[in-house]
Amino acid sequence: MNDNVTIFDHPLIQHKLSILRDKRTSSKDFRDLVSEIAMLMCYEATRDLPLQNVEIETPICKTTVKQLAGKKLAVVPILRAGLGMVDGMLRMVPSARVGHIGLYRDEKTMQPVEYFCKLPKDIEKRDVFVVDPMLATGGSGIDAISQIKQRHPKSIRFLCLIAAPEGIEALSKAHPDVHIYCAAQDEKLNDKCYIVPGLGDAGDRIFGTK
Ligand code: PRP
Ligand code: URA
Repeated sequence: MNDNVTIFDHPLIQHKLSILRDKRTSSKDFRDLVSEIAMLMCYEATRDLPLQNVEIETPICKTTVKQLAGKKLAVVPILRAGLGMVDGMLRMVPSARVGHIGLYRDEKTMQPVEYFCKLPKDIEKRDVFVVDPMLATGGSGIDAISQIKQRHPKSIRFLCLIAAPEGIEALSKAHPDVHIYCAAQDEKLNDKCYIVPGLGDAGDRIFGTK
């Protein structure tokens, strides 16, 4: 297994993912589940954030407690489907700034087409979590990360729900410094570059557009 990849096998994540994959799941439930899984993934993907000792006073006495060591984080969803993961991330890290990168896959060439990029001004001081439910060919993730790298953030992590082996390989090759976190690595891509078994088109299922 690639050292760059962490697959979350937590039972709660796996259970929620199983409902997400089901084609009978409504858009409302789909949105709720994407948000809940993002929250659980954020909890796991922030496990190594450094802590510092801080003096406080409880109602009983003075004491030393541990707090995040001045970490500045940014969440960057790849539009549209990545938007579904933002709320869950922010519930865990409410002080994170949010950037947006607009990309869609051209249906014929499967190449990402950029249409929007707005990132936090001080991104060079931040650790960035790029979020998108699907890592298929890897084109969108690779392109989004290249755009963010032009602004020199402190670090970048990529969080997705389902990854295809092809996407993991391509993203790891293009950006070996970016750790990939996912809830499942699926079997393959089909001839339309959809993930098999996957969950279908994440953006359409979140926003009810098909
Ligand atoms: C989906 C998904 C990823 C991309 C993954 O977005 O949310 O961004 O495809 O595919 P790739 O790894 O082959 O690039 P899509 O292009 O359908 O746009 P949408 O989110 O606006 O629906
Ligand atoms: N984008 C999706 O939304 N689903 C896939 O299976 C592949 C790309």
